[in-house]
Amino acid sequence: MLMQPYNAVLQRLESKGRLRSLKVPRGTDFSSNDYLALAGSEYLRNTACEALVRGVPVGSGGSRLLRGNHPEHEALEAEAAAFFKASQVLYFASGFDANQAVFATLPQAGDLVLYDALIHASIHAGMQAGKAKTQSVPHNDIAAYEAAIRQFRTTEKSGNIWLAVESLYSMDGDRAPLAELSALADRYGCFFYIDEAHATGVFGADGRGLAADFAGRDNVLILHTCGKALGASGALLCAAKPLIDVLVNRARGFIFSTAPSPLQAAIVRGSLKTLAAEPQRREKLQALIRHAEQNLQPSGSQIIPFTVGDNQRAVAMAEAMQNHGFDIRAIRPPTVPLGTARLRISITLNIDEAQISRMAEVLKQIANSYE
Ligand SMILES: Cc1ncc(COP(=O)(O)O)c(C=O)c1O
Repeated sequence: MLMQPYNAVLQRLESKGRLRSLKVPRGTDFSSNDYLALAGSEYLRNTACEALVRGVPVGSGGSRLLRGNHPEHEALEAEAAAFFKASQVLYFASGFDANQAVFATLPQAGDLVLYDALIHASIHAGMQAGKAKTQSVPHNDIAAYEAAIRQFRTTEKSGNIWLAVESLYSMDGDRAPLAELSALADRYGCFFYIDEAHATGVFGADGRGLAADFAGRDNVLILHTCGKALGASGALLCAAKPLIDVLVNRARGFIFSTAPSPLQAAIVRGSLKTLAAEPQRREKLQALIRHAEQNLQPSGSQIIPFTVGDNQRAVAMAEAMQNHGFDIRAIRPPTVPLGTARLRISITLNIDEAQISRMAEVLKQIANSYE
């Protein structure tokens, strides 16, 4: 009786081909976001060991506003501000937490958030908890952003407008038109929020991301997550000081939560150092991306979506790939729009050219057999 509603949920998901379960990874990595193969690297293991030896604690012991604020957090934030050329940086326990905190806290009642139709779930979570009006804009459609801004301004003379995008879309691997959006934000006096989760460490000079040119501006907020190319966890929010100060005072997930592990902050400091010191990681990744593009399809990034459409077929194809030893996962709605279930293939330094070629061959065979 008690379980009846939950069993009904699971049955509904199953009937739609949307039931998920946890799986320990097996096979060659074509699904992680560990783009630079830093997560299991000797370099970051050594960084962690050295930090432990110099006495960095594993746990923070409290909220950042109480005793949990450790010099390691502050050192990371100062180094990240210098590296990303940001006026101020705040370290969060995860990218999800950061996006949730920003959108629940900064856009005020009377503001409007215009977000790309493909924006990440964490920004939706923040907007749902926030007080501002929100409006979806068709993917990468500059004219639609401008029309929505003008429309809002015809009735609302005050209230800030926020544009929210990902610089590199997590499930499609395509880019936001950042220069055009930034020009629009400047022309209409909007805030511009750029989630760099999948670009940080991979693109831009020293891996500073696709939005590096816009860093440090008062109206621009940039999020660099640390759990993907940086191989660790957490997220670095770069923004103007008053915005960071309001988050420290108002963001419930930041205030009423144990601060991230100081050890983790020490590891992220190591990740940032290696981005600048080892450009060869990025160069090697770019070469692998070119190889994948020749064997699969053009993508322009390390994220290659192989669209299948039907949920069950996507799951069956992913399982067939896994049975051949390739760790490829099916991504289904609501993570991606209805009717666009896909295999999300990611290219990382955990694999080499020969493995990409073999995977592409098997994928073609399997795709043919499912036509
Ligand atoms: C675009 C984007 N933003 C934010 C996040 C959340 O980051 P984290 O994994 O650090 O919570 C993700 C993770 O999948 C993401 O893809």
